[in-house]
Amino acid sequence: MSAKAFRENGRQLLDWIADYLETCEKYSVQSQVKPGDILARLPRHPPLAGEAWPSIFRDVDDIILPGITHWQSPNFFGFFPANNSYPSILGELLSAGLGVQGMLWTTSPACTELEMRVLDWCAEMLGLPEKFRFDNSPSLLEGGGQGVGGAHVQHATPHPTSPLRGGRSVGGGGVILDTASSATLCAMIAARERATQGESNRTGARQQLVAYASSQAHSSVEKAARICGIGSQHLRLVDVDRNFAMKVDHLRVLIAADRKQGLTPFIVCATVGTTSSNAVDPVREIGEVLRGGTAESAADSPVRGEGVAPGVEAARAKILLDRAILAPPVWLHVDAAMSGTAALCPEFRWMNNGLDLADSYCFNPHKWMLTNFDCDCFYVADRAALIHALSILPEYLWNQETESGAVVDYRDWQIPLGRRFRALKLWFVIRHYGVEGLQAYVRHHIALAQWFQARVESHQDFELAAPCPLNLVCFRHQGGDAMNQSILDSINHSGKAYLTHTKLNGKLTLRLAIGAWRTKLHHVERVWELIQSAAQQQGDSGRGELSPPR
Ligand SMILES: Cc1ncc(COP(=O)(O)O)c(C=O)c1O
Repeated sequence: MSAKAFRENGRQLLDWIADYLETCEKYSVQSQVKPGDILARLPRHPPLAGEAWPSIFRDVDDIILPGITHWQSPNFFGFFPANNSYPSILGELLSAGLGVQGMLWTTSPACTELEMRVLDWCAEMLGLPEKFRFDNSPSLLEGGGQGVGGAHVQHATPHPTSPLRGGRSVGGGGVILDTASSATLCAMIAARERATQGESNRTGARQQLVAYASSQAHSSVEKAARICGIGSQHLRLVDVDRNFAMKVDHLRVLIAADRKQGLTPFIVCATVGTTSSNAVDPVREIGEVLRGGTAESAADSPVRGEGVAPGVEAARAKILLDRAILAPPVWLHVDAAMSGTAALCPEFRWMNNGLDLADSYCFNPHKWMLTNFDCDCFYVADRAALIHALSILPEYLWNQETESGAVVDYRDWQIPLGRRFRALKLWFVIRHYGVEGLQAYVRHHIALAQWFQARVESHQDFELAAPCPLNLVCFRHQGGDAMNQSILDSINHSGKAYLTHTKLNGKLTLRLAIGAWRTKLHHVERVWELIQSAAQQQGDSGRGELSPPR
């Protein structure tokens, strides 16, 4: 393709994208094709000779579009938001145009340094603890980059300054990964190395490591445990309370029992906004158990004392239990993939409570911050722990800047070597909307969710299935699983809106996740009407909203 043709075709493509986004409401939200339909329309063999652009492009309309489920439709309420925006799309295009590999600082300094700055911006915008920021890092202020020194090594060997050899922590920072799943995996690898003092990378861990997450945590935690060689059986699923948040008392008991058996607890993955129901784990309480905050206060108090009230005695017993589950330190990772964006607004920053005790944290701008997939912001409080777990420097990547330790090489912060220039789209989004513009989006979506929640609460035949702190409403018709399944199928087959489901307390539950770029009140009003009429068609009482509020 010549540059001239690229310009023409590119303009045509941009027009196509803008037309699509302006009108995607007109399509059936869920693709209505059957399995194999798209495959059947694609030639079995690649073309021998190149084809003309118009015929390639025509197939986008003819073959691809029918097989698209329209995540950008304002009537998309499924799974979780995956919204994009024009500035984000332009950033993605520019990244493809520049075509850089940002694996090392030296392979494109702007790719690394823009990412560092934008990650610091996000930390500030969300009100995250300072320890997660580069600009708060002593070694960076002194002109150091990764701050761990340049290790000119062929294989992963802890560098002499490594904390694994008793060195100091060099400060934290953030990186853009593809997904929250990768963030959990990277956190788990770093935690494994810290807990085994590097043995795991050197020889394979001999210790039996154990991870913990609530029964409502995302499946990526179990996947990470499998990939890390921990094994699903050594991932303990902690019980949840009636709001589906982790029960800290159960966590405490599980950790103590594992220690007693000679196992090594090494990571707890807490969730701020679970996928199923938006539950928020008590991060501060979890962190206090892991960091032994309560154990410190126990140090000066006698274990038993005469005349001590039973409540105090129980508290001391709990403190002793906490003490027993101290060192080696257990890593605390916080997954706020779906909901972290809400912390843009000060009124939702309660969700950050306890992050000062976390070792790592992530949220996904690719879910709810107008930045198209993929873009996960992953932060660590001590970047040395991550880098020493993931760094291998083969000769062909050696360079003076890396050796000097004065730069950040993001290849050491992720699983793959290569990396795209993802910071561009995030930079464009933040600059285009500004913090206030992004806050307005979040508030708008949460207000819509509250509107919907109020309708459910005042309807005689429907009930809320979980608290609705943000933009996800979990609800169900009281007619049972079959009724709810019918409502879901009928709406999704109609193509007028799209919802998904979960199971809470063993019951089929409908989920309405609000976060598409163009969703307005009338879209939410309409989906509520669709839900009620689907229920009536299935033969509910038909009393609907006419019934007096309960
Ligand atoms: C809490 C939570 N964690 C992790 C994920 C996985 O996200 P990703 O696709 O970025 O790995 C999701 C979304 O599905 C989620 O809601």
